[in-house]
Amino acid sequence: MRQSDLTYEEFIAQIKQRTGIDLALYKQEQMQRRLKGSMERAGADGYAAYLRLLDTNPSVRQVFLDRLTINVSELFRNPEHFGTLADRILPEIAEGKRGIRIWSAGCSYGAEPVSLAVLAQEKLPGVSCEILATDIDESILKAAAKGEFQDPDMKNVNAQRRASWFVREGTTWKAKPELMRLIRFVKHNLLADSAPGVFDLIVCRNVVIYFGDEAKDRVNRMFFQALKPGGYLFVGGTERVADSEEIGFENPLPFFYRRPR
Ligand SMILES: C[S@@+](CC[C@H](N)C(=O)[O-])C[C@H]1O[C@@H](n2cnc3c(N)ncnc32)[C@H](O)[C@@H]1O
Repeated sequence: MRQSDLTYEEFIAQIKQRTGIDLALYKQEQMQRRLKGSMERAGADGYAAYLRLLDTNPSVRQVFLDRLTINVSELFRNPEHFGTLADRILPEIAEGKRGIRIWSAGCSYGAEPVSLAVLAQEKLPGVSCEILATDIDESILKAAAKGEFQDPDMKNVNAQRRASWFVREGTTWKAKPELMRLIRFVKHNLLADSAPGVFDLIVCRNVVIYFGDEAKDRVNRMFFQALKPGGYLFVGGTERVADSEEIGFENPLPFFYRRPR
């Protein structure tokens, strides 16, 4: 750090003021490493210089937000877990109901809510399904609303599903309106906003891995409160809910946490 530079704490205070995003809630070492890479690429030799660039150069700002949020995704990410969701969890939560509500939290460019919409259409005929898809990143939500995917996103989608639910347009796979009409895309910051309703299923995968332990715990408790009794939280392939029992969750299957009835 140069003598006249800002400290990390001062830098994140400035970022919070400008964007409302509290970097203190993310894992510090990881965040500093990511920032270092972004600063080097932008040609900034310290936090103060980087902040000036963020204020004046929209493309530097966009790269910063992209690096912060890491939007990597694909349809049916961890297909075997989506299989469990389809065969065990969805029938259980929909039993005796005319409609269910699902929250895809940290939905990135939409592969996750679209996968959920496919399963709802295939597995729950006669049950209406509302999927709320949220993310902190407004630009990714705009992309998500188009329902467009590329070949690498589709590697877990078999030929039958491709034909039933997607239309090929040039090099793009476009999700059919029957899927997209189930999904509503809304901006939401898991670390600042309250839960956007109550749900039968909350899917939050590969999002909290970037959060510090305290923030993770806060988010998991919010999820518990936002689930209907008997509702499930579905987490990512490398994630588990620490203190799940203390929060009140049952954990009947790996990656699936249930709020008791
Ligand atoms: C790696 S993607 C996960 C996408 C999808 N859930 C999946 O598993 O394929 C992580 C997403 O979390 C979002 N994210 C990061 N911090 C967030 C926050 N505080 N609130 C809401 N979304 C956040 C990012 O913008 C990004 O789109």
